[in-house]
Amino acid sequence: IPVQPFDYVVFGATGDLTKRKLVPALYHRFMDGQFDEKSRIIGASRSKLSEAEFQKLVRDALEQFVEAEYRDPATIDRFVGICTYVPVDASKPEESGDLGKALRDDPKVVRAFYLAVAPDLFEPIAEYLSKKKLYRRDARVVIEKPLGHDLASSQEINDGVAKIFKEDQVYRIDHYLGKETVQNLLALRFANTLFEPVWNSAHIDHVQLTVAESVGAGTRGYYDESGALRDMIQNHMLQLLCLVAMEPPASDDANALRDEKLKVLRALRPITNGDVSRMTVRGQYRGVKSETAAVASYQDELPEDKKGSRTETFVAMKAEIDNWRWAGVPFYLRTGKRMAERVSEICIQFKPIPHSIFDHAEGAPKPNKLIIRLQPDEGVKLMMMIKDPGPGGMRLREVPLNLSFAETFAERTPEAYERLLMDVIRGSQTLFMRRDELEAAWSWVDPIREAWDRASEPPQSYTAGTWGPSGAIALIERDGRTWYEGT
Ligand code: BG6
Repeated sequence: IPVQPFDYVVFGATGDLTKRKLVPALYHRFMDGQFDEKSRIIGASRSKLSEAEFQKLVRDALEQFVEAEYRDPATIDRFVGICTYVPVDASKPEESGDLGKALRDDPKVVRAFYLAVAPDLFEPIAEYLSKKKLYRRDARVVIEKPLGHDLASSQEINDGVAKIFKEDQVYRIDHYLGKETVQNLLALRFANTLFEPVWNSAHIDHVQLTVAESVGAGTRGYYDESGALRDMIQNHMLQLLCLVAMEPPASDDANALRDEKLKVLRALRPITNGDVSRMTVRGQYRGVKSETAAVASYQDELPEDKKGSRTETFVAMKAEIDNWRWAGVPFYLRTGKRMAERVSEICIQFKPIPHSIFDHAEGAPKPNKLIIRLQPDEGVKLMMMIKDPGPGGMRLREVPLNLSFAETFAERTPEAYERLLMDVIRGSQTLFMRRDELEAAWSWVDPIREAWDRASEPPQSYTAGTWGPSGAIALIERDGRTWYEGT
């Protein structure tokens, strides 16, 4: 469905996010006909580029980050034709170009500002827009992490933006919410009758959330300031947890949904002081050297002045939700860099059957599991017990009811940013974080961080290419459970 025509101003237009994600996402939406030449993309940054130079940057980004099969020369020409550029330095208005001239003063043209810049520039840019009279009450502003490094700094960032923009104009991106499979969690839970009756502590033993990456932290400067807790748990993992744990909202209205997520965040049992070492494990990868391959350790990747860093590249934790639905059902979370494989998945482990009539049979019944695979090989699997065919008696076997997205749907799966960028134009905040959600997440994460900072022991070390430190295995095995690692 086509969206209204828009003027999308992208601050930080020469940056990595713009080239890797925003330009390709907009291109795909353009190619699919979701918008056309009535819309404009206006790059803005401190660099003094000409329009032609920016258009060249857009072309190069498409060349590099859009798969060859989707690079159609005629479409690229048309797309590049709607891209223009204005040099803007919010701190030096006198040296900036005239952004106002590039924007249309037509209420039917949606006005959106994407701030793909460091958060300390959010407030100056917002004020610049206001001073230059480019702010409109119906304009939208898009911001993205790092939205602070703790509750206080996140409040400061939000306050800065709120000086100009009202909450209903602010679109805080967590790109996990734009992933097709993450949105599918909503469909799975709330468009089927099957799961809701068993979606509670009476039937679910525990839940596992894994977001494992095989890549390392590399030389991304900011990672060392952040670490896995801030980089992945505070945002993506807690959002996933909310979608699994929340009560059914009354509608898909943005606030109805976000109210329910907020209730989950507020019901998370705080992990403080002495509990931190019992409920969390942090790790840092060490390198491996064999005759055929060598993987650097996290320490090796750091610049000289950062060596000895205790930043965690892995976190495992046990979270508990203090409400009726989830009392006594632990949520085990783990995420890390340089793990055995790239896989994000949610495993809902049901309780064992109350009584087995198959005690004499080979292979005791295993509890059902619902595996929601977010990436790669997106799909949903329900692990069931069946009778192994054959005359040999009642042998039981665990077999998946298997829904593979690739096999079921022929269409290309859109990238998260495609959906999110268009939702901004549609004015739909459902898949964006509200301020109170973000702050509730920081409030829960901060005491963990503080306890780690006080701790005398460093993160546990784990070998690159494994499932993390031994402490992560101990964390779950102490409870008589094991991490799900595929079947
Ligand atoms: C980002 C983190 O938010 O998410 C990165 O900053 C991480 O460290 C990335 O690699 C993972 O996203 P995806 O979409 O590849 O799972």
